[in-house]
Amino acid sequence: MTTIRLVQGDITRESVDAIVNAANSSLLGGGGVDGAIHRRGGPEILAECRKLRASHYGKGLRVGQAVATTAGKLDARWVIHTVGPRFTPEEDRSELLASCYRESLRVADELGARTVAFPAVSAGIYGWPMEDAARIAVETVRATETAVEEVRFVLFDEKAYDAFARHVS
Ligand code: AR6
Repeated sequence: MTTIRLVQGDITRESVDAIVNAANSSLLGGGGVDGAIHRRGGPEILAECRKLRASHYGKGLRVGQAVATTAGKLDARWVIHTVGPRFTPEEDRSELLASCYRESLRVADELGARTVAFPAVSAGIYGWPMEDAARIAVETVRATETAVEEVRFVLFDEKAYDAFARHVS
């Protein structure tokens, strides 16, 4: 049974086994959560990402997939990088967003992680409406079989926190 917890704050400050990064296909960093994780975690994470690109993901990590590195100076053991879909009103990409949560939990299980912190994947630079992003996140985690004991959604601001709270209760 996985417990869902909500926290408002900066995900890079969380003490969990694994922190999920809302990355992009290049795995080479960016803004938002991605920038914050690399800044606080230090260059080790980026160095591992570069190696992963060279060894396994020559064309980049596909949208909806997830892959882990260690966590550098962060107070976590691993960073699980996942690539959310950009929001577009023309096409329903919900399944790809759900896949980010499922795949991240699958990777967490492979690692043996028991506590995992997620940001609101795709709900920043990738433009996903927060309400819908929150619904997909919560529904998918609830529907996924995993040995992860706690999923902690770490929401940057009150609007995001409130959106997740509506779907958790
Ligand atoms: N802790 C928790 N949540 C955060 C933090 C933080 N430190 N910083 C931002 N958020 P985003 P995306 C929230 O843009 O939409 C990057 O350039 C933010 O307010 O980080 O998946 C990547 O390289 C929002 O609610 O991720 C990609 O190119 C949520 O985290 C692209 O952005 C997600 O916002 C990915 O865009």
